Amino acid sequence: MTGKKVIITGVPGVGKTSVIIESIRLLEEGGVSYQSINFGTFMFEVAQKENIVKDRDEMRKLDKNAQKRLQQLASQAIARIDGNVIIDTHASVKTPVGFLAGLPEWVLKELKPDLIILVETDSDQILKRRLSDETRVRDIEGYRDIQDHQDFNRAVAASYAMLTGCTIRYIKNSDFLLEKAVEDMVQVLR
Ligand code: AP5
Repeated sequence: MTGKKVIITGVPGVGKTSVIIESIRLLEEGGVSYQSINFGTFMFEVAQKENIVKDRDEMRKLDKNAQKRLQQLASQAIARIDGNVIIDTHASVKTPVGFLAGLPEWVLKELKPDLIILVETDSDQILKRRLSDETRVRDIEGYRDIQDHQDFNRAVAASYAMLTGCTIRYIKNSDFLLEKAVEDMVQVLR
């Protein structure tokens, strides 16, 4: 397999998909091509076929072993994709029984990432974005819980660096400064 594998993570609603879309557009203009893959979509397609969820937000409420099986299938399918790939996913998933690692060892062995990016911003901004997004069934959380989740993601990302030798980069996507986040993302992906 050739090309770079970049994993982009961030708590729900931080705006990682928005940053990815605009970065890919700018990179393309500069002659660098990336394909963006949403890990959750791969999981959801299997879960939908098996009739175990109605929407993508139900997946994080599934039994832990069911989520792990979907993770494994998604990582195997994504590993087969050639070229520069951005994988839009989660460093950890908040389930009803605690944080589930989004990139456990067996997923990292398949994906072999070169770089993991954590998109972050202040928790109160994420809370506001979640409240104004009516297209999704977001968990009801306060900004302190969101901060705990972001802290856990930094901690678990360190273990991903230890397991794979990849580098870890934090990118801040502040309110109304999407262009700055995109500029930082383009600089590391170029
Ligand atoms: P996924 O599809 O990745 O969903 P999500 O992370 O829950 O939510 P989004 O992708 O919609 O959020 P986002 O952070 O990209 O924000 P957006 O750009 O939309 O995952 C779905 C499910 O799949 C998970 O819940 C999980 O069950 C499963 N899954 C995935 N990976 C997994 C894994 N590895 N292991 C196990 N399960 C996994 O932006 C949000 C809003 O903010 C928008 O309204 C946008 O306009 C606004 N916004 C963005 N940037 C700014 C800015 N700078 N200023 C102001 N507003 C902004």
